[in-house]
Amino acid sequence: MTPPARRDGTPDRKHEDTPQKGFRSRSQRRKGGARQAPQEKNYVQGVTADQRNMPLISHAKPARRQHVDEAEVRRRQAAAQGQESDGIRLQKVLARAGVASRRNSEILIEEGRVEVNGKIVERQGMRVNPAVDIIRVDGVRVNVNEDLEYWILNKPRGLHSTMQDELGRPCVGDLISEKVSSGQRLFHVGRLDADTEGLLLLTNDGELANRLMHPKYGITKTYLATVLGEADKDVVRALRRGVELEDGLAKADYAQIVDTYNGQSLIRVELHEGRKHIVRRMLKELGYPVQRLVRTKIHTVQLGEQKPGHLRALNSSELTSLYKAVEM
Ligand code: URA
Repeated sequence: MTPPARRDGTPDRKHEDTPQKGFRSRSQRRKGGARQAPQEKNYVQGVTADQRNMPLISHAKPARRQHVDEAEVRRRQAAAQGQESDGIRLQKVLARAGVASRRNSEILIEEGRVEVNGKIVERQGMRVNPAVDIIRVDGVRVNVNEDLEYWILNKPRGLHSTMQDELGRPCVGDLISEKVSSGQRLFHVGRLDADTEGLLLLTNDGELANRLMHPKYGITKTYLATVLGEADKDVVRALRRGVELEDGLAKADYAQIVDTYNGQSLIRVELHEGRKHIVRRMLKELGYPVQRLVRTKIHTVQLGEQKPGHLRALNSSELTSLYKAVEM
């Protein structure tokens, strides 16, 4: 019996048959070595001690899956990549991404306005692989990968910012899987407290998600906070100067009192950091406990009139603006 191959192409000794009596290795036969008396078997593996040190040679007719020929695997992978990079015509990809009609896309190419992987395209007829190639028009990245999804959710109050909640609490994942078939593959970019409402970005684009959350890019988030108390300019000044919290100073990039009425105020706060409960803690520290908190904007992407619990796809100019903000 031919031992089944392991992933590295060597036979799996676990399944190796007990060797035949008088077995001679190929090298012994080549050297004309005498048929030896059967060796004592080491029955731990059903293999003689000698055989364990011998090169692995199978005398059986090669099984289809006996060996993983790594050179062959590499050759096939290269061929597959080659086929992919034969890919799709650039003007077709641009048209599919909504940049322009095929004809106008050809004109964009002719005018030297299209870049593939950092190089201006200088000829017509180029083929690209939309799953891997980075395409820019006038220096602005265009999403040509149809597998990537970008959604904006207006997270309702009471939902946890998780795709699956270990404690079985209502979470964003429940809502998404009802609405988008690919919901399982999406993840949320950052979090909102369960009590906070508003804009939550969902995507399966890991690179963009990571960068948006990375402090290096300082992505600004805007919140509207309804607080108890009639706030005055001192609050705005304090928010901008920075509020000392137990885990360090927290500064707003911008703050504004939108309205004060009947013992309450509506305050807009913009900041680029993402510490837990940051807005609530800052305002509480200043003596204005938050009653309601809504995230209305991430970078240039606005929540607008989108209703709580509703999802919408990010449009291409919003996506382009996010790509740009994180240097993608
Ligand atoms: N700041 C908060 O206090 N809560 C949020 O959910 C987001 C920012």
